[in-house]
Amino acid sequence: MIKRNVFLLILAIFILSLSGCKKAGEERTDTGLVLGFSQIGSESAWRIGNTKDIEEQAEAYGIGLMLENANQKQDNQIAAIRRFIAYRVDVIAFSPVVEEGWDNVLKEAKEAGIPIILVDRDINAGEQDLTTCLIGADFYKEGVMAAEYLIRKADALGLEQVRIAEITGTENSTPMRQRHAGFMDTIEKDPRMQVLESIDGDFLKSRGAECMRYFLDKYGDEIDVVFSHNDEMTIGAIPEIEKAGLAPGKDMLIISIDGGQEAINVLKEGKINCVVECTPKLGKALMETAIRLKNNESVEKIIHPEEQVFSDETDVSLIAPRGY
Ligand code: AHR
Repeated sequence: MIKRNVFLLILAIFILSLSGCKKAGEERTDTGLVLGFSQIGSESAWRIGNTKDIEEQAEAYGIGLMLENANQKQDNQIAAIRRFIAYRVDVIAFSPVVEEGWDNVLKEAKEAGIPIILVDRDINAGEQDLTTCLIGADFYKEGVMAAEYLIRKADALGLEQVRIAEITGTENSTPMRQRHAGFMDTIEKDPRMQVLESIDGDFLKSRGAECMRYFLDKYGDEIDVVFSHNDEMTIGAIPEIEKAGLAPGKDMLIISIDGGQEAINVLKEGKINCVVECTPKLGKALMETAIRLKNNESVEKIIHPEEQVFSDETDVSLIAPRGY
């Protein structure tokens, strides 16, 4: 009996120790649905806005949310998913930091009969059917929209040669691979376009600054365009361009992705030329999908939100507050 009580006590402490989670019992709210969500980290305003949106929507839909922040580490995400399985949540959702390496833990979830929703990013599971659906942006289209803006801008400025420095997101992540592919496939048709080099900025502001210093040292004012895969890296890169005596937005065209308030303010100042939107507001679709899965209803395989382009081609003073 004492042994059993000690075991139950240890189990309770283990459940309570889940970082960022509510106490066991508190998760079961109006819908009776408990959702385990493993977030990548807090690397950007986008990510922080995404976490906040998911928390707010869980509350609004009466869903108990067990949220864990993996601090950019895949191992932490795998451990979090295993804890969700042990706790027997109804549905597991996660934003995979990279695409490879999920097979084992997802097979464990499948064996436990817990449906998995991919949020924001995709995985590479080959032919295996380990997840129910993906709720996230069309990253390939974002790369296409960035390139289409650049081609229009080069036409408007009458540029004969366009040399591009690309700062990419986390290597082997879906947004990095697909934004790059969409951009490259689109500029390929235009002989003026040349990518000088693409380097990994890991979606971080500090890395954006480092990458920009590297580009300026190597190519100087040969660079006509900086294409950065997220706002955080763009905001890190801009002061470096200024320190080099160049005017971002004028001497160098600056193209970013996300559309957070800070980047939109810099667009309004004229130091960014174009921001392709990537909305972090995926919480509503996530909650509605989780409820459908709990009720054994079918769900759409891919849910992409509508996204737009903010650029100096329009009156940027009219852009409404972004909320993240
Ligand atoms: O996966 C979405 C990307 O991840 C966003 O563009 C970036 O800002 C975030 O960290």
